[in-house]
Amino acid sequence: MKIAHFSRIGFILAAAGSAVGLGNIWKFPYIAGEYGGGAFVLVYLVTVLSIGFSIMIAEMLIGYLGRMDAAKSFEKLAPSNKSRWRLAGMMGIWAGLLIMTFYSVVIGWILHYIVVAFSALPSSVAEAESAFNTLLHDSIITQIFYHTLSFILISAILVRGIKAGIEKLNLILMPMLFIIVGGMFLYALTLDGFSQAWDFMFSPDWSKLNSEAFVIAVGHAFFTLSLGMGAILTYSASLPKEVNLVKSSLYVVALDTIIALLAGLMLFTFLYQYGAEPSKGPGLVFISLPAVFYEMGTLGNAFAILFFFALAFAGLTSAVSLTEPMVQYLIDKFDMTRFKAVVVAGGFFYLVGIIALLSNTTAYGDMLHFGSKNFFDWVDYITAAFMLPFGGLLMAIFIGYKIPKKQVFAAVGKSLGRAFSVWYFILRYIAPVALIIVMLNLLGVITF
Ligand code: PHE
Repeated sequence: MKIAHFSRIGFILAAAGSAVGLGNIWKFPYIAGEYGGGAFVLVYLVTVLSIGFSIMIAEMLIGYLGRMDAAKSFEKLAPSNKSRWRLAGMMGIWAGLLIMTFYSVVIGWILHYIVVAFSALPSSVAEAESAFNTLLHDSIITQIFYHTLSFILISAILVRGIKAGIEKLNLILMPMLFIIVGGMFLYALTLDGFSQAWDFMFSPDWSKLNSEAFVIAVGHAFFTLSLGMGAILTYSASLPKEVNLVKSSLYVVALDTIIALLAGLMLFTFLYQYGAEPSKGPGLVFISLPAVFYEMGTLGNAFAILFFFALAFAGLTSAVSLTEPMVQYLIDKFDMTRFKAVVVAGGFFYLVGIIALLSNTTAYGDMLHFGSKNFFDWVDYITAAFMLPFGGLLMAIFIGYKIPKKQVFAAVGKSLGRAFSVWYFILRYIAPVALIIVMLNLLGVITF
């Protein structure tokens, strides 16, 4: 049973800390780059603000009403088919841990780049590219070392629990993250490259929006808001009763979107200003950016250090939220101590993370390549494009159809006011239809 509760601001920062992550600063710019900018960004924004925001309220509601781990909250609240609904929670818990297998590896790269930022930055894009490729393809020991460091940091926070671990971490790191990203954005505003960056992000070229781009954009909306897997649900189970869920959701969605847009604009400004390419794939912030920072001279070094720290902060605050649902589940279900639960959950992502990391290497890559992708990319793809939207679909159906409307209204009716019926309509009709189209498209049943 839970004893520790978040404070109000602690909860908002923790949920925002979960949402604002590698998704915003590492993933969003590179997928926006890969899928051609504008049109992709627009689909992402529309999804976030309509379906994303609505499901954010629904997911918070499940945790807030259920007060248990993700699986038990579904089970407890479901009026019938309890054990089936429990599976919805279980799927989410596993999705989080699966995401952690590559997430921790990427946090490891970031920790490595903090060290690089303090020493010598690569002096050209070519040099930066070869350094990143060497890290990824050949430096197994280095990667394992930093992945281990990431695992230790995350576990050390989680064993301290909700209040002294997760809340405190977010209270400290999130304001620092906002200051760093905000400050760097203001600097980017003064550069000529800014208008090109603006055009790239906001003038849609619809010809670039194929159905794959569409699926990826919707999937990313879920990924970036931490929706559909029980991270937000698990945090909400520790909410004090008097909290306004709608307002909290609004803050979280707003902060997440603002940080993604500021980070994207800032990054593309720097890239355009120094003639680098926006479409570098996952290496974008590790290849083009360090080379650009080098060009900036001493200021660039300071920027590099701040930027990679901010990225690490964003990653860590999300990582704890990806692991906590499993930790909470193990504690509730098997009566484990928190320490033991952290070792079990952490041990899983740590070990499977090594497989993910090896799948990028020259030595083991072939062995861990299945069909069109390696293990690392498959995990990313299956979780973000399928598991999270599917989890979100189940949450929309759960609140929209399974929980009595009266009970839902009692919890959020007052704060939503007239918007209640719009929100309820989105949950019942718009979100399920949109998400089913995405699922069918993903399975290749329909294409457009
Ligand atoms: N939202 C996080 C990010 O943008 C990732 C995440 C997904 C965290 C799902 C928790 C749950 O990086």
